[in-house]
Amino acid sequence: MAGNRTFTMIKPDAVKNGHIGAILEKINSGGFRIVAMKYTKLSSEKAGEFYAVHKARPFYGELVEFMSSGPIVAAILEKDNAVEDFRTLIGATNPAEAAPGTIRALFATSIGENAVHGSDSDENASIEGSFHFAGTEIF
Ligand code: CMP
Repeated sequence: MAGNRTFTMIKPDAVKNGHIGAILEKINSGGFRIVAMKYTKLSSEKAGEFYAVHKARPFYGELVEFMSSGPIVAAILEKDNAVEDFRTLIGATNPAEAAPGTIRALFATSIGENAVHGSDSDENASIEGSFHFAGTEIF
């Protein structure tokens, strides 16, 4: 059965370019309820840990450097079929391939600096949400 929560980050590029408000508006009008949210900055150690699954990829170093380069907004979102519906809302990883109107098509600049993260499975949504939030920060 599809789960009802996913995890997202508004990445440093989108924060720097002033898109927090517009992205949150897309999230709200997409029918997602924000159950946890914080404005924070990842250390390079924390970014490396979050993306450890990509450690062997050639872009890992660049990814960790970018994700720790400035503040992010981290959030847990709730909706029926949350993981899949949020991935539809954000569009393909590479913004050049993202469908028109999706968050990445509108706000991302490149495959590396792609504005937002969205969990790829219910299991990862739960792991990633717990990575950023204590139980007392989820409502
Ligand atoms: P995200 O969904 O946060 O999860 C892994 C990230 O790795 C992905 O978004 C991209 O930002 C990044 N990524 C994937 N492929 C590449 C690539 N070829 N070059 C640089 N970064 C990449």
